[in-house]
Amino acid sequence: MNTTKTKGTALYHPVNIGNICLSGNLFLAPIAGYSDRSFRSICCDCGCNFTYTEMVSSEALVRDNKKTEKLLRRAQNEQQYAVQIFGSTPETMGLAARYVMNNSKPSVIDINCGCPVQKIIKTGSGASLTRNPEQLGRIVKFVKSAIENEAEITQISTRPALTIKIRSGWDQNNLSWKEAALAAIENGADAITLHPRTRAQGYEGKADWTILAQLVELIHGQIPVFGSGDIFSPEDAKAMLEQTHCDAIMFARGAMGNPFIFEQTRQYLLHGTYSEVSPSQRIKTGLKELELLIIDKGEKIACREMRKRFCAYTKGIQGASEIRKDIVLSETFDNYVKILEPYIE
Ligand SMILES: Cc1cc2nc3c(=O)[nH]c(=O)nc-3n(C[C@H](O)[C@H](O)[C@H](O)COP(=O)(O)O)c2cc1C
Repeated sequence: MNTTKTKGTALYHPVNIGNICLSGNLFLAPIAGYSDRSFRSICCDCGCNFTYTEMVSSEALVRDNKKTEKLLRRAQNEQQYAVQIFGSTPETMGLAARYVMNNSKPSVIDINCGCPVQKIIKTGSGASLTRNPEQLGRIVKFVKSAIENEAEITQISTRPALTIKIRSGWDQNNLSWKEAALAAIENGADAITLHPRTRAQGYEGKADWTILAQLVELIHGQIPVFGSGDIFSPEDAKAMLEQTHCDAIMFARGAMGNPFIFEQTRQYLLHGTYSEVSPSQRIKTGLKELELLIIDKGEKIACREMRKRFCAYTKGIQGASEIRKDIVLSETFDNYVKILEPYIE
């Protein structure tokens, strides 16, 4: 399918990935330890068009690890989502893809080729795959055919699309995004996301959007290209779409504690302005996320995990430092409500 866009096309638009149609092009990125189903659910409420789970170990899935399985669960309001898996061998990744298809029925299975964490890369997974396009190609080919075979066996009506998420390379002297992208296309990937930082950069420095623009040129509409990196405001989102002509954008750190960025960006792309979010709205949304997290993790763990997330929700609110001081000691939902009630209209 040719997805080439002409310059001047509306910046907010539907996206097709393989046979999957998405209503818009504003996505939530995979974020380990953060894009769990409570946060993804909140992002859906706030206008996000497509969500990604955090990366899930293919080895653990194949071993039938119950804890890992929980990461796959879909939120009630999450009609379409992507499950991201990581691993280093085609066989295990293929088995994991089959497992995910049958258990979670996602619209997309995404392969992590960008994680820079030592314990992941030393196994040949994550960013090691951007550095090793041949192995990346083998994995894409194997997983693609595993998905096709499984769809035939189970007579699934809509098979998931297969996508990859890469970095620009290992380090500044080893930029392999081009070879990685070509290997993925050749072996059947349905879309590519690029986070244009190297493994060596981690999350430091600036994402190099010019590389993203070059990838869009290289792919030339054969499959969609998605951009990730340094989108912290609706203005950043518009700039990335305009400067790179990528098909969709992913918010990661810019959405943490600020899921409102999806609807604000949609407004900004369509009308050139967007509405501010009131402190009361921020706090109510944070409390809703806490309620959802409690369902999945229990009150004690959820209240602890939510402390950091609430600091982000209260950013810019008058009295935020007082709120944070109290929240870091909160152990129950009622503690949170008591602290936050004065700020809710
Ligand atoms: C805490 C954290 C966890 C992340 N976890 C994942 C992950 O599980 N899979 C993945 O592909 N990328 C992961 N990323 C990378 C993001 O998806 C994104 O590509 C990157 O943060 C650049 O976007 P940003 O500058 O808007 O944050 C993570 C990033 C952060 C900060």
